[in-house]
Amino acid sequence: MTINWREQFAQRVGRITGSQIRSFFQLTERPEVISFAGGFPGSSFFPSQDLSRVLAEMMEEEGRAALQYGPTEGNYELRAYLAYKMRREGARCEAEDVIITNGSQQGLDLLSRILVNPGEPVLVEEPAYIGGMGALRSCGGVPVGVPMDAEGVDPQRMKNKLIALEREGKKPKLFYTVPNFQNPTGYTTSLERRRAILELASHYNFLIIEDNPYGALSYEGPVPPSYKSLDREGRVIYLGSFSKIFVPGIRIGWMAAPAPLLEKVVLLKQTADLCSNSLGQRLAYRLSQEGYLDEHVRRLVSLYREKRDLMLYCMERFFPEEIGFTRPKGGFFIWVTFPGCYPEAKELLNKALEQRVAFVHGEGFFYNGGGSHCARFSFSQAGKEDIYRGIQRLGDLFARLTGERVPAKAAQG
Ligand SMILES: Cc1ncc(COP(=O)(O)O)c(C=O)c1O
Repeated sequence: MTINWREQFAQRVGRITGSQIRSFFQLTERPEVISFAGGFPGSSFFPSQDLSRVLAEMMEEEGRAALQYGPTEGNYELRAYLAYKMRREGARCEAEDVIITNGSQQGLDLLSRILVNPGEPVLVEEPAYIGGMGALRSCGGVPVGVPMDAEGVDPQRMKNKLIALEREGKKPKLFYTVPNFQNPTGYTTSLERRRAILELASHYNFLIIEDNPYGALSYEGPVPPSYKSLDREGRVIYLGSFSKIFVPGIRIGWMAAPAPLLEKVVLLKQTADLCSNSLGQRLAYRLSQEGYLDEHVRRLVSLYREKRDLMLYCMERFFPEEIGFTRPKGGFFIWVTFPGCYPEAKELLNKALEQRVAFVHGEGFFYNGGGSHCARFSFSQAGKEDIYRGIQRLGDLFARLTGERVPAKAAQG
């Protein structure tokens, strides 16, 4: 008898949709393509040699423990170190408030499974990180987007959404946000808005998931205080990650959350994977301890800053004037907006791929429609020459498509 796989799957599987980004990776990540599509860290910045040295030392000194299963909550020393780092940034946090996860993506998955019932509305940024929305949606959460501008999510518009939802008898329990150098826009939520959103959270009684993988990669001074450090009611769940400040391959992230929630997270993580990567945790702890990681982050900041500056310079120089783009103060992403008279970004991408350049078109970052004339550009992976050549090629393409022979600004300089 042939197997009908549809009948085999649990109902919740129907809610799982693949990431639009992953599905066209095969095209965008071909070697001949200059890709601004993936949000991966620059692999040339991975500290492979230092990593081999520390791994060898670790095997010598604590090899058996590093290769063994560990506690579900994670390595205690690493948890204590992360709590200390968070206290230094103003948050109230002890080792017991922290659990180590397999990247912050696992944190998003566990939280969705614990907090979201099918059909429940969840406030998200608009546009929002696809992987965050994916986790919420896989549990039946219905993302309700709150539009962003250069200051982050607008609290007044959030309030309007909350009032509209209330009229329909709906009440979101959660707001999912990436407050620093957001994926995909690069925007950072201002301090004033963080305060206003916390007030709304208190008034309407919802929790905030603060996902902060990029905050340390700040190219123009410190970021505003975290929601976690401003929170006086214990309604903020903080997610951190080593992926962008060290390497994603070790799959180490962390969650700092109030005790009643953490208890459930630990139980669920036990059924998910027993514990996170022991080797990676010890490696992260050793490097953090030696002060190596802080130094590495300082290096990354200066390297990524150069790439950001170059991409912005090239966009300024080669893109036709009517194309808008954000100027992120950190992280990996620039959000590009094409005028309405242009073809949709999806179509532009197809033409760009013919020129062997890739980016991500915008629709996937919106849940309720939108983004057709937007695109995310990442400057993290491509080398500097490729950034220059890729943006120049796109500038020529966009100018040709809109009938201009030479982009206005390039002609001047
Ligand atoms: C906003 C955001 N959150 C979470 C993640 C997942 O990161 P991790 O490697 O820590 O799971 C990413 C990865 O790109 C991201 O951009």
